[in-house]
Amino acid sequence: MAMAVPFISPDDAGDAATGASGHRTRVAIAGATGYAGQELVRLLARHPAVTLTAAMSSGASSAPRPLPALARIWDQAVVPLDIDALVASAEIVFLALPEVASAEVGTALVERGLRVIDLSGAFRIRSAADRSRWYPATATLPAGTVYGLPERHADAIRGARLISCPGCYPTAALLPLEPLAEAGLIVGPVVVDAKSGVSGAGKTPNERTHFSENHGSVAAYNIFSHRHNAEIEQELGTSVTFVPHLVPLDRGILETIYVTLKPGTTEAQVAGALQDAYASAPFVRLTGGALPEIKHVAHTNFCDIGWKVDEAGNRAVLISVLDNLLKGAAGQAVQNLNIVLGLDERTGLF
Ligand SMILES: NC(=O)c1ccc[n+]([C@@H]2O[C@H](COP(=O)([O-])OP(=O)(O)OC[C@H]3O[C@@H](n4cnc5c(N)ncnc54)[C@H](OP(=O)(O)O)[C@@H]3O)[C@@H](O)[C@H]2O)c1
Repeated sequence: MAMAVPFISPDDAGDAATGASGHRTRVAIAGATGYAGQELVRLLARHPAVTLTAAMSSGASSAPRPLPALARIWDQAVVPLDIDALVASAEIVFLALPEVASAEVGTALVERGLRVIDLSGAFRIRSAADRSRWYPATATLPAGTVYGLPERHADAIRGARLISCPGCYPTAALLPLEPLAEAGLIVGPVVVDAKSGVSGAGKTPNERTHFSENHGSVAAYNIFSHRHNAEIEQELGTSVTFVPHLVPLDRGILETIYVTLKPGTTEAQVAGALQDAYASAPFVRLTGGALPEIKHVAHTNFCDIGWKVDEAGNRAVLISVLDNLLKGAAGQAVQNLNIVLGLDERTGLF
C-alpha cells in the first residue's frame, strides 16, 4: 500500500528547492516516450525539489529503452508501464498517456493513495453526459479531481488528489476569455479560430499529420466535433464556435479570438480586466496592441495575450499564443506540481 503524499509546508518546499532541507519529492512519469512525456522528463530531471524515480512507456514495449534526445539529462532507461512500480517509486505521478490509458491508470493510482497530475483529457469534463460523449472510458471522476488551470484554480489545485491539466487549445482560449467574461464585458457569441503545430497530435503520424500532407498547407478540421470545444464551453459557461487548424509547424498554437463587447466597453476596460487577472501570474504576458507570435513563446511556459478593441463597433479581437508541449502540456503540469509543493510557480521552468 502506498503512502499518501506527505504534506509539505511552503517553508519545507522552499528549502527543498534550494537543497537546504534535503527533502525531494519522488515523482514518476507514465508516457515518457511521447512528445509531452519527453518534455516532462527534461523538466523534472532538472527540477530542484523532486527526484525523477521512474519513466515509463506503454506496456507494449518488451525491453527498457533509452531516450537519445535526453542523454546527459536523463540517462536511465525508460521501462514498460507498471502500476505497482509507480506506486512503489513515487509520491506524485505524471500521466502523459492517451486518455483511455489515463482513465484506467489515473483512477488506480488515486485509489492507491498517490497524487496524479494528468495531461490527457480523461478527467477534464465534469458532466457525466458530456464525458460519456467525449471521454467514454472515464466512467467517474475520482474524488479530489480538479481542473488544473493554474492561473485560475491555484487554491483547489493545492489540495487536489488528481489534477487534470487543461488541453492546449483550451489553455490558450481560457486565459484571455475568462477574465473578460467574469468582468461581464462579453455579450453574444465567441469565436475561437485556432492554429496548431503538428506535435499537438502526438508522435504517431497519420494521414493528416504526415509530412507530405502537412508541409506547405493549412487545413481546418473537426469543426463542431472537437473535444476541446466542450472543454472551453464548460469552463466559460457559454457557447463557443471553435475552429482548429493544423499548420506546418512542429510546435506552437496561435488563437485569434473574436468577441462582441457589451455596448460602451472601452479598450481600457478590456486591458484592465486582463491586467487585474494576471498581475501576479508569472507565465501570462500581456502585450496589448503589440500582437504576440508563436516564436515569442516556443520552448517556454509563457502564454502571451494581445488585443485590439473597436470601441465604436463593440468588438474585440484577442491573440493568444503558447507552446502546446509546455504551457499547453508538460510546463503547465510542472507549474501545477509547484503549486502542490508550495513552491514558486516558476521553479524548474525558467
Ligand atoms: N501533444 C500535445 O501538444 C499535448 C498537449 C496537451 C495534452 N496532451 C495530451 O497528453 C497525452 C500525451 O500526448 P502526446 O502528444 O505526448 O502523445 P504521444 O506522443 O502519442 O505519446 C503517448 C505516450 O503514451 C504511451 N502509450 C501509448 N499507448 C499506451 C497505452 N495503451 N498504455 C500505456 N502507455 C501508452 C506511449 O508509449 P510508447 O512510446 O511505448 O508507444 C507514449 O509514451 C495525451 O493524452 C494528449 O492528449 C498532448
